[in-house]
Amino acid sequence: MFKDLEFLWDMGNEKEHYRGQSRIDYEEGEWLYNLIQALPTLPTLVEIGRKFGGTTLLLALSRPDIKVSSVDNAPYDDFRVVSQMKRFHLFNTDLIVGDSKTCINDHLDIDLLFIDGDHSKEGCLADYYHWSPRVKNGGHIIFHDAVGDRADMGCVEAVNELVTLGILKNEHKSVSSMRHFIHGNQDR
Ligand SMILES: C[S@@+](CC[C@H](N)C(=O)[O-])C[C@H]1O[C@@H](n2cnc3c(N)ncnc32)[C@H](O)[C@@H]1O
Repeated sequence: MFKDLEFLWDMGNEKEHYRGQSRIDYEEGEWLYNLIQALPTLPTLVEIGRKFGGTTLLLALSRPDIKVSSVDNAPYDDFRVVSQMKRFHLFNTDLIVGDSKTCINDHLDIDLLFIDGDHSKEGCLADYYHWSPRVKNGGHIIFHDAVGDRADMGCVEAVNELVTLGILKNEHKSVSSMRHFIHGNQDR
């Protein structure tokens, strides 16, 4: 249950569900968790950007049959993430250290791609172009920090550009700063 993952938003003495180990908002996490429950069996997920590993744990713990690859070129606390994985008896996650724009991978059948790495416009576009060909037709692509008007949010510009060019088409209901697209040609 998602409630079991609330520790990812623990902030010491603060009771508010904002951000802790996870850098996405609590409601974004809940939404992502629910979306993952609806994926087919043995789903493959790729996460670009794990930082403290909060979303990595969220993905890895969301379903027992899930396979997760998490890419970060400068993760902040993999030592802690590895020990948490051991504590939860999780063997379903690859913690890859490398540049997501060039990282070579063999995950050609991705069910869900979560882009939360380089937040510059160019970086976000590069992640999209490098990884989206590996997403299944009908799979999910989710951009974090892709809604808003902060000057440092290159992802907003990147996603808007992809939509304007007609490259990203099938947008689904999203939450907070996340934008969610179905990959491929079919209208859903
Ligand atoms: C916003 S944080 C990710 C937060 C995490 N998804 C969460 O919510 O808990 C962004 C991460 O992307 C990583 N990053 C930035 N550029 C990258 C690149 N070119 N390749 C891989 N990772 C990158 C940074 O090191 C940072 O840890």
